Amino acid sequence: MRIAVVGSGYVGLVTGACFADLGHEVVLVDNDEQRVEALRKGEVPIHERFLPELLTRHRGGRIKFSGDLQAATRASEAIFIAVGTPPTESGDADMSYVESVAREISGAVDEYKVIVEKSTVPVYTNDWIRTIITRNGTDPELFDVASNPEFLREGTAVTDFLYPDRIVVGAESERAAELMCQIYSPLTSGWYYGRADAIPRPEKAQVSPPRLIVTSAQSAEIIKHASNAFLAMKISFVNAVASICESVGANVEQVCDGIGADSRIGPRFLKPGIGYGGSCFPKDLMAFRAVATESGYDFRLLEEVIRINEDQRRRFLRKVRSVLWTLRGKRLGVLGLAFKGGTDDIRESPALLLVQELLREGCKVCAYDPAAMERAKEALGNGAEFAADAYQAAKGADAVLILTEWEEFAALDLERLRGVVKYPIVLDGRNLYDPAAMTAHGFSYYSVGRPPALSEPAAARSAKREHA
Ligand code: UDX
Repeated sequence: MRIAVVGSGYVGLVTGACFADLGHEVVLVDNDEQRVEALRKGEVPIHERFLPELLTRHRGGRIKFSGDLQAATRASEAIFIAVGTPPTESGDADMSYVESVAREISGAVDEYKVIVEKSTVPVYTNDWIRTIITRNGTDPELFDVASNPEFLREGTAVTDFLYPDRIVVGAESERAAELMCQIYSPLTSGWYYGRADAIPRPEKAQVSPPRLIVTSAQSAEIIKHASNAFLAMKISFVNAVASICESVGANVEQVCDGIGADSRIGPRFLKPGIGYGGSCFPKDLMAFRAVATESGYDFRLLEEVIRINEDQRRRFLRKVRSVLWTLRGKRLGVLGLAFKGGTDDIRESPALLLVQELLREGCKVCAYDPAAMERAKEALGNGAEFAADAYQAAKGADAVLILTEWEEFAALDLERLRGVVKYPIVLDGRNLYDPAAMTAHGFSYYSVGRPPALSEPAAARSAKREHA
């Protein structure tokens, strides 16, 4: 099929590249000329696994880049809108980019097309897009508006797209639903999975082809917001449980093992840490709360989810202070700046927010992140030092802080690390290590929701204090 994808950010690029891999003819449209030029030249502006491979595979063939939205609309049967919906000051989503795309599309609808909303949007966006397009003179019989929310995680967006748990389509007409089913049929029929050159199936992905769920437009828009809010709630819930575990001396990993074994709850998204961040959860929770308030429902549960998340960072900071006593002038080796492992994204990163707080407290921070350093340098300016690897960051440190769940931080050479630090103290905000392994290497190890594990001299001091 012929598809236009508008917006070449995370969602648009991944969607366009994956549609091309499913066999469709894709035009990726962006009004940023430099970005379009860079994409044409083969640059990949985001750090996303398998995206470079897919773009190389299809660039100049099934995927083309353009700045001309009207031409792309005329040439396509479906137009996916994947432009940004940043939060406004009051927390609701700014829909002006979506509106201007809808306005521009309307001049180019010369035969039946489906306009698909892919950005995360408030309920009734579908109706608004329809109104804007007809208001600008398009025959309402010539188009339908559908909603097709994405559930892509950064870092695994390509495999999330190609091996989804489900595909949600909100469509108000049979014709639009039928067209959307056709677009996704390479996945729902299982055809893609039999291909020798398919992007490999991730370990945890379901084996059977995904279900395509057709709903009303409003339901699809709520599904997206409610899914993200539920996942964020799971994280805040487990973070609250971790805090109780710390107070009573329980171990949150054991507790989560026990909770997650209940198939009604499930083990995923139950990892405690320094809180969630990123471009989606914080923004979508605010937007969902705004939608709820507007519809007359006071969704206080969401406020609590947000409050616990923010508190989680403060708790970690208190932990650093309780271990180091005073912070001014202390040298900290910080491992991780991205909002999670596998990405260079620092938007709403709890790691970065913590570093900023530590700098305000007068700490000297030497940080390392496998992908997010360039972006972090812009955000932190001269405030922090940056290292070439984890060991350089830890060199001479009063303590090492693990703030992002990168795989390489879970596989450090502990002997080597022990050799470079000033004091063998690790504060792990992501629970990447077995506490016993850390003490065996001479570290005092503090994590989230688990009893501290003290190296022998530290344990002896602590016992002496208790005795006194
Ligand atoms: C999220 C949703 O998962 C995705 O479906 C949606 O489309 C976009 O938002 P993403 O923001 O890429 O994706 O990241 P995700 O992997 O969901 O993690 C979000 C944050 O929660 C990260 O900061 C991560 O560190 C944190 N997290 C996640 C936890 O603290 N504990 C967990 O168990 C899982």
